Amino acid sequence: MKKNVSKNLTKVVHILSDGKYHDGAAIGKAMNISRSAVWKIIKKLKNYGVPLNSIKNKGYALNEPLVLLDASLIKDQLDFEIKNIHLFEQIESTNDYLRMNHKNKSMSICLAESQTNGKGRMERAWYSPFAENIYLSCCFPFQKDISELSGLSLVAGLAIAHTLRAIGMEDGLSVKWPNDVLMKDKKISGTLIELQGESHGKTQVIIGIGVNVNMMSDGHHIKTNWTSLRRETGKYIDRNFLCARLLNMLFRYLKKFEKMGLAPFMEEWVALDCLMKKKIAIKQADHVFQGVMKGINEQGHLLLKMTDGGVRAFASGEASVWQA
Ligand code: BTN
Repeated sequence: MKKNVSKNLTKVVHILSDGKYHDGAAIGKAMNISRSAVWKIIKKLKNYGVPLNSIKNKGYALNEPLVLLDASLIKDQLDFEIKNIHLFEQIESTNDYLRMNHKNKSMSICLAESQTNGKGRMERAWYSPFAENIYLSCCFPFQKDISELSGLSLVAGLAIAHTLRAIGMEDGLSVKWPNDVLMKDKKISGTLIELQGESHGKTQVIIGIGVNVNMMSDGHHIKTNWTSLRRETGKYIDRNFLCARLLNMLFRYLKKFEKMGLAPFMEEWVALDCLMKKKIAIKQADHVFQGVMKGINEQGHLLLKMTDGGVRAFASGEASVWQA
């Protein structure tokens, strides 16, 4: 079920963001709402999984820092024109929202505090707890035929990696074909690319990005080895600032890719590629191919030197380091 951002919920979080105890009556007075309305908001936050303490006669306090996303704050920091950012408190999937609601031909962005049906590659779920990470989708109208977009997922991964490097997170940063971003060999971000429409050499694509930002625990929901920016730095990160930087970088990379294809990104990819020259396995449906990773070609396909000496290009698949 889709939930728009509630102004009152945002205000309560703002009041509690000092980490101190605030009683329901005082919060209600400050917001001009009843005590029971405050209690409902607190209950909603608890249902979202926000760690809140409540002590009789003292009130409520946040256990952890919490800053919610603010669409206008993000929009103000963008260096390109966008009509509006669709921000939801909760939604099934930001990718699905754009696919079902985005009818015009311009660029459009959707963000959510949480997803109830976040989707990853290979039909996997993308764990999307409330207000911890970035769940972002961007519908981008390319002046290109679909056949020219095969390197897009690599470019999106590079834009994310560049954003992380620009905020000082370059230690152990790498990309894993086709679109994972890793930190010290643990997944920190992934991209899901879906086709929205195509006609006369123009293609609209939905680029869905998940970045693990402040998520610390609950790892049992995720099968891969994962990390988050907060896990790596020990610091709570402002997602508004990060979203804006990420969107600016993504826009720059997408525009360059639209104009010049994958060629100008090859060097950056090679420098960050964690599989390069390693013995790897590529899983495609029921087949597993083994060999040595020789890099990528200009279509973004993975080049695998097979045991018979031949080099084979893979357009899709799941790559992993091969433990013989
Ligand atoms: C992957 O690595 O498997 C891709 C993960 C993509 C997750 C993002 S979160 C925002 C957008 N909405 C979704 O449902 N999925 C993408």
